[in-house]
Amino acid sequence: MTAVTIYINGTPVTRDVPADLALIDFLQEDLGLTGTKLCCGIGVCRACTVAVRRVESSVAVPVLACSTPAVLLDGEYVTTIEGVGSPSGLSKVQESFLHHFAFQCGYCAPGFVLATTMLLERLRVAPIPEQEIDAAIEGAVGAHICRCSGYARYHQAIRDLIHEQAGAVR
Ligand code: FES
Ligand code: FES
Repeated sequence: MTAVTIYINGTPVTRDVPADLALIDFLQEDLGLTGTKLCCGIGVCRACTVAVRRVESSVAVPVLACSTPAVLLDGEYVTTIEGVGSPSGLSKVQESFLHHFAFQCGYCAPGFVLATTMLLERLRVAPIPEQEIDAAIEGAVGAHICRCSGYARYHQAIRDLIHEQAGAVR
């Protein structure tokens, strides 16, 4: 067992964890945070994507919770879907996905929400030209699998979000 402290949605959490405990098991079993979804479990579908900052002020990067040991995130900052919006106050990304009817069964949704939230955050510090929007969307969510095939709706929602975000397109 190794003692780790991980900042989960802004709150430091300290636990003794086995070296091979996957982050998703740490979130679901130890902390009761079941919003991060397990699908393939082998790092392919990206349903389990969470956002990780190495230091609090850094830009978040996607991490696959199913295949990342929790011990590797000691001292780092993890945002899960529970840290994005709330049932009474959805984030802009969640609202846009709802508006476009992108969610069907919703199992892939937390991963898409986190990946899109990180894309918009990157565009805040590094705007892109109009002609690179499709490639940016592909880069952010192109590897995410939606078994209900909601890709076109997700992509249109993200395109709209990019256009709505002041300064995202230069
Ligand atoms: S459940 Fe993690 S990548 Fe599929
Ligand atoms: S909405 Fe069902 S897997 Fe994407």
